[in-house]
Amino acid sequence: MTNNPEVLDLKDLPFLNKNLKRIDKAILKSLPPKNYSKISKAIHYSVLNGGKRIRPQLVLLMAEALKVDVSPKTIDLMAAAGELIHCYSLIHDDLPSMDDDDFRRGKPSCHKKFDEATAILAGDAIQPLALEILTTIKDEKLKPDQKLKIINLFAKACGPKGMVEGQSRDLAAEGKKINIKDLDEIHYLKTGKLIEACVESICILKDGLLKKDAKAFLNFAKKFGLAFQIKDDILDILGDEKKIGKPLNSDAEKNKATYPTIIGLKASQERAEKLCFDALKILSKLPYNTENLVKLSKFIILRDK
Ligand code: IPE
Ligand code: IPE
Ligand code: MG
Ligand code: MG
Ligand code: MG
Repeated sequence: MTNNPEVLDLKDLPFLNKNLKRIDKAILKSLPPKNYSKISKAIHYSVLNGGKRIRPQLVLLMAEALKVDVSPKTIDLMAAAGELIHCYSLIHDDLPSMDDDDFRRGKPSCHKKFDEATAILAGDAIQPLALEILTTIKDEKLKPDQKLKIINLFAKACGPKGMVEGQSRDLAAEGKKINIKDLDEIHYLKTGKLIEACVESICILKDGLLKKDAKAFLNFAKKFGLAFQIKDDILDILGDEKKIGKPLNSDAEKNKATYPTIIGLKASQERAEKLCFDALKILSKLPYNTENLVKLSKFIILRDK
C-alpha cells in the first residue's frame, strides 16, 4: 500500500497479479525467440519490460465480468495482441521524428538502446504480429465471424482512422493553439480507440449481450480512455521521472497540445476525475459484476505512474 491516500499503486490491486502472469506468459509465447535476430532482441527489450499492461488487463477483466464462454487461451491471446499494438505505438512514439524521447519504462528507448532503423522495424514487426496472433487462435467456441470482427476491431484501432491518425494530429498540433474538442478527438484516436477495442472485442464474445449494455461498455471505455490520456498529460508535468520511467516535461519541450496547456492542471485533474466518475456510474448500472473494472478505473486517475 502507498501511504499517500491520493495515490493508488498497482500493488494496491492484488487481483491484477494473477492476470499479469498470464499476460506476460502469453506475450512471451507470441514473440519470436529472443536470439533469433537483432529485431527480435529489440522486440523482447521493448515488450518484456514492465509496462503497466492496462490494455490486456482490461481484456481479462472484461472477460471475467461478462463470463464469456471461450477458452482462457483465446482471452490470453487477445490480451497479448492488445499489448503488442500498444508496445509498437510506444516504440514509434519515442522516435526522434516523433516525440524524441530517450527513456521508456525506466530504460533507454528502443532507438537509443539499438538504433533508429531497428526501432522502426521492431515496431513494424509487432503491429502485424498482434493481428497474426489473433488469426492463429484455435478455439471451437470462437465463431469465425466473431474472430473476424475481433481482428477487424484491433486493425481499425491502430490504422489510418485510429491511432496513426491520432499520432499524426498530435504531431501537427505541436506549437498550435487547438480547442479542447479537437484535443479530445486526438486523445480518442491515439489512445482511446485501442482501449475501446480491448473492451469491445470481449463484448463481441458475449452471446445475448443486450445492445444497450454493449453500448454502455463502449461508453465506459471512451471515458476510461480519455481519463487515461489526461492523466498521462498531467504526469508529464507532475510525475516523478523514476516512477513514470519516461522523461518529465517532454510535452512542454515540444509544445504539445495537452490538457494542462489548454485548461490548466487543476481543471485537467477535475476533468479526469469526472470522466472516471461517469465511467463508474456506467459500470454500476450494468447487470454484471464489474467490481474489478471499477478498481482499475479508479487506478487510472489515482496513479502516479
Ligand atoms: C503510455 O501508456 C502512452 C499512452 C497512450 C498514454 P501507458 O501509461 O499504458 O504505458 P505503459 O504500457 O504502462 O508503459
Ligand atoms: C502516446 O501519447 C500515445 C500513443 C499512441 C503511443 P504520449 O506521447 O503522451 O505517450 P507517452 O507520454 O510518450 O507515453
Ligand atoms: Mg506522443
Ligand atoms: Mg510520447
Ligand atoms: Mg504523454
